[in-house]
Amino acid sequence: MLNFTYNNPTKILFGNNQLVNLSYEIKKYSDRVLLAYGGGTVKKTGLYDRIISNLKKESIFFTELSGIQPNPRITSVREGIRLCRDNKIGFILAAGGGSIIDCCKAISAGVNYDGDPWDFLTKHPPVKNPLPIGTILTLAATGSENNGYAVISNDETEDKLSMGADSLRPKFSICDPELTFTVNRWHTAAGAADIMSHIFEQYFNIVEGADVPDRIMEAILKVAIKYAPIAVEQPDNYEARANLMWASSLSLCGLTASGKGGGDWAAHAIEHELSAVFDVTHGIGLAILFPNWMKYCLSDETLPRFISYANNVWNISTTEKYETANLAIEKTREFFNSIGIPSTLKEIGVKEDRLEEMAAKAVRYGPIGKFKLLNKEDVLKIYRMSY
Ligand code: NZQ
Ligand code: ZN
Repeated sequence: MLNFTYNNPTKILFGNNQLVNLSYEIKKYSDRVLLAYGGGTVKKTGLYDRIISNLKKESIFFTELSGIQPNPRITSVREGIRLCRDNKIGFILAAGGGSIIDCCKAISAGVNYDGDPWDFLTKHPPVKNPLPIGTILTLAATGSENNGYAVISNDETEDKLSMGADSLRPKFSICDPELTFTVNRWHTAAGAADIMSHIFEQYFNIVEGADVPDRIMEAILKVAIKYAPIAVEQPDNYEARANLMWASSLSLCGLTASGKGGGDWAAHAIEHELSAVFDVTHGIGLAILFPNWMKYCLSDETLPRFISYANNVWNISTTEKYETANLAIEKTREFFNSIGIPSTLKEIGVKEDRLEEMAAKAVRYGPIGKFKLLNKEDVLKIYRMSY
């Protein structure tokens, strides 16, 4: 087990009807709020009305940023910063999935920054005096509700890049599983795949002896494998939605990387290029890439990890070690297919003639990954295996 510091101040209010605590939590920070949401789901589901009546009852001033897209754009961040400055906003409330929350984190960092917010994605200046943010989660997937990361896209440059700071961790997140009953099959499956992918990024790691995070991660994978198919078939199954939601919040909050020295994150970098160019749904891209990334990384050195994965997650054990590993990888792909995710990039509209360019961009800052270091040629091979 490696040394680590784990400090996660986000308060999680989990369960049905936790929305009643919204204004109480906000007022600890400010009574002037930017309410941010996406393409209208919050209005269709009635969540918007519930938020508004909660804010009005406590005389909290609010202004709105709507229309934040999946794979949130830097243009929404700029608009949000303008709204905060013009309205002397003191608190940002994100109502939605990871895209809304990420956009709000970038706004939060940018309000008191004297420059263009895209700098946070490219030059990584320190985040100073961010506005506090809170979230109302409506989709179990990214873990953004419980971490300090944000991923923002730029259509002009066809880039999708990450930023992060501990000070961007939400002050609170309201995680009511009932708010995810309306998520469709595609996004439910994509969310589950994203949760599992966050674990893969941390689990496939050569640091041995950190049993606490390893066993927690295996449990989270098993939870996703158990409940994702139920949530896809029965969208209003509370236990399925609740387990996926808590799995989302625990998968990328620092807990499971503690003692393991962080994660690999190559597959995420490879996927972000797909989203940047083809606006791919993040979890779908990951689910297609990951079985191929696993195959590509399998070697004598990495074999023991795959054996643990096969034995402890899938209950697969044969007398031949490589056979065991390959069966677990195949099982991973079959699982993703079983919840409605295709197997190839071609099926989701990725064009082959852009693969080389995306591979070059994935390694724009140098080779990626830790479990296995990947350069441009490696990334291109993984894209081709996934095509
Ligand atoms: O736009 P609205 O109307 O809200 O609809 C959304 C959107 O179309 C819909 N949706 C959300 N909640 C719903 C719902 N539909 C019905 N009922 C509900 N309750 O779902 C669609 C996708 O939403 P989005 O927020 O894009 O999904 P997700 O939570 O998967 O977020 C994906 C973004 O997060 C980034 C991804 O790269 C991607 O940009 N990530 C952020 C991370 C982080 N901050 O830690 C880590 C992740 O690895 C990831 O990179
Ligand atoms: Zn992810």
